[in-house]
Amino acid sequence: MIKQAIIPLAGLGTRLLPLTSVIPKELLPINGKPGIEYIIEECIDSGIKELIFIISKKKEMIRKFYNNDKFYKLIIKKKNDKRLITEYKKIKKYKKMIKFVYQNKPLGTGHAILKCKKYIKDSHFLVLLPDDLIINKNCTKEMIALYKKTKSNVIASKKVKKSEVSRWGIFKLNKLNNNNFVIKDVIEKPSVQKSPSNYAVIGRYLLSKKIFNVLPEISKGKSGEYHITDAIKQMINDDENFIGHIFKGKYLDCGTMQGYTDSTQEISKLW
Ligand code: UTP
Repeated sequence: MIKQAIIPLAGLGTRLLPLTSVIPKELLPINGKPGIEYIIEECIDSGIKELIFIISKKKEMIRKFYNNDKFYKLIIKKKNDKRLITEYKKIKKYKKMIKFVYQNKPLGTGHAILKCKKYIKDSHFLVLLPDDLIINKNCTKEMIALYKKTKSNVIASKKVKKSEVSRWGIFKLNKLNNNNFVIKDVIEKPSVQKSPSNYAVIGRYLLSKKIFNVLPEISKGKSGEYHITDAIKQMINDDENFIGHIFKGKYLDCGTMQGYTDSTQEISKLW
């Protein structure tokens, strides 16, 4: 029912410089595999059939990573390495699922998602921001189950410390139960005093195709980018239902240097 996931990868990754000056952050290894692979696995495990990767010319390396058949064939012919054969099979499997869409100017997540309009086939689809890893429990699976029950748009959420709300997009909400709430509004980086809650937006969105009617109408935000949040706010104003889901897994912010370093340690504890 939910078969497609958009994964925006066209950002500059400036918070991880100098690591990202040449290598896209999504290919940086986390405990021995590229970070993006955790996102791909989460999608496959949830029944997603197509992954739409938004990249830019500067991030061609991501495309190359999944389109390097000649090289693998040559090496596998030379050395009959079992591990390499397994890895190559995995890459081929992922490659079949990926469609590449280009956003050559990083004008924001809203702008990136709009680039995918003509490729979305069903009424609803997913967006996963690859910096936001969620381990231990599959957040996407939980969100799809909630969508099946409620037919609402769903956004992942996590409770953050009151003192840290100004780092996040924060929900104004009406609690439904321990794990879910009705979203009334989303406030970007509010002050502690003005924050309507301490439930933050995390990068997993299950959205109605209707967002493509709203995205062309949003204005640039403070940073000069078109934010997905502004389209969501507009949809809430237009009486679209949005549910916030407090996911069960553990959140790792791989977009900052500290978070990226911590993530390898956290993930290595799992094995
Ligand atoms: P971020 O703003 O968190 O990441 O976007 P960034 O821009 O890559 O990194 P910093 O802030 O400079 O360190 C969240 C996700 O959305 C993608 C990014 O690649 C990232 O995966 N993105 C962002 C786009 O695809 N296009 C954009 O215009 C902006």
